[in-house]
Amino acid sequence: MHDLLLFLHATTKWFVVTSLPFSILYFYISYRQKKTITKLHNQVKNTTLSIVHIQLLLGILLYGISPITNYFWDDVAAALSHSEIYFFGGIHFISMVIAVIIITIGNLEAKRATSDRQYYNVLLIFWSIGFLIILCAIPWPFSPFVTRPWFRFY
Ligand code: HEM
Repeated sequence: MHDLLLFLHATTKWFVVTSLPFSILYFYISYRQKKTITKLHNQVKNTTLSIVHIQLLLGILLYGISPITNYFWDDVAAALSHSEIYFFGGIHFISMVIAVIIITIGNLEAKRATSDRQYYNVLLIFWSIGFLIILCAIPWPFSPFVTRPWFRFY
């Protein structure tokens, strides 16, 4: 079960890190061209938000069964001396939850927007901040902190 969730979580990462910049770019171009919001804008927004929420759900499930996070909660003091343990037990979890909350608030605020300009502004600001946090909290293979492979095949 852990291997399956880890594989799904590692794979969905690619949907998150492609759909978010794609949406941000799409909203930015629409904003610059003063385009009226269409059904397509909302579809792009909702699809991206669903991908981010699926990743959040997979992350929460993984957090519940991962040997790394179990070790973290068994002995938090000892875990603080192992970068991989406190990264996944604390930093990754907290940063990602904050990022998803910011992205979700952006979506709610965009729904309440009273003009197209406000819709684009809100999404561009909230989603860019959320995306930056996600980029920083991913254990990239080149990360100075904790590294994981580009792709996971099991
Ligand atoms: C929403 C954006 C998120 C992204 C892009 C993301 C990405 C990743 C990546 C790339 C890995 C390494 C996978 C591998 O070993 O190949 C990972 C591991 C992990 N993630 Fe996330 N994650 C996100 C959110 C979350 C959240 C919200 C949680 C917890 C609530 C979480 C919990 C974990 C845990 C526990 C691991 C390590 C599991 C293990 O090795 O046993 N993730 N994540």
